Amino acid sequence: MKITLTFYPSELKRLKSASGGLRVVVIDVLRASSTITHAFSQGCKAVYPFASIRDCLIKARELGRDRVILGGERNGLKIKGFRLGNSPQEYSRDVVEDKFILITTTNCTKNVQTVIRLMTAKEILVCSFLNLPAVAEYLATRNDRLHIALSGEEGEASLEDVVCGGMLIHRLLEKTDLIEAVLSDPARLAYIAYLHYKDNLRQALLDSTHSQLLIKLGMEKDIDFCAQVGIHNFIPFYLKGTIRLKEPVKGLYYWVASRRR
Ligand code: MLT
Repeated sequence: MKITLTFYPSELKRLKSASGGLRVVVIDVLRASSTITHAFSQGCKAVYPFASIRDCLIKARELGRDRVILGGERNGLKIKGFRLGNSPQEYSRDVVEDKFILITTTNCTKNVQTVIRLMTAKEILVCSFLNLPAVAEYLATRNDRLHIALSGEEGEASLEDVVCGGMLIHRLLEKTDLIEAVLSDPARLAYIAYLHYKDNLRQALLDSTHSQLLIKLGMEKDIDFCAQVGIHNFIPFYLKGTIRLKEPVKGLYYWVASRRR
């Protein structure tokens, strides 16, 4: 298995020509991939990721405001006129169940849109610490080319994303005899970063720049929530414009439009 990694979306252009047949995992630990994953545990139907607020509003008109929830952030704060910000626990069952979530965030949704625009990916999976074991389980049975697309923070690496990507690599190396696994240098750097923090993942989040902003905004609880490993056992994946669930059932994977939990 060849594993490559980029630290933020603008790096993806160097992979444009070599991306055929790749599986891509998108990570944004603080907080969008954690929020998206948690929203599915609360029964949302699907998530539409948009790079801009305007695109969110256009889609809301198309789907009907009663069927959608507008969520997301700019500079960590809820967008004016949106129902939810980007704290995972805002996306509770009483709010999101059976709804379409239209979300735009500073980095993650741009990362997803860049992957779609520049890469011919076989699949695009959404990963956070919350569902990392399920993602590792799924990928370990598919011994082919994997790219980990970290969202970063406005064009530079995010420590929490790097450690999460490194943990995924560690799990894959553990699960399969990938001794001969070919790791790109960025992938190997992420693996080493994970080994440094593996006994205290919360510290990796606290040491990151973005967590300092969240603490300043009074959102420290998001850091503890996003540091939980494996509380959700499913994989959101991107398909034809929306993010939906991919559920492991007895080794078979089927597409679940929405699932009551
Ligand atoms: C992002 O997309 O950059 C993050 O989700 C930002 C945040 O939630 O504060």
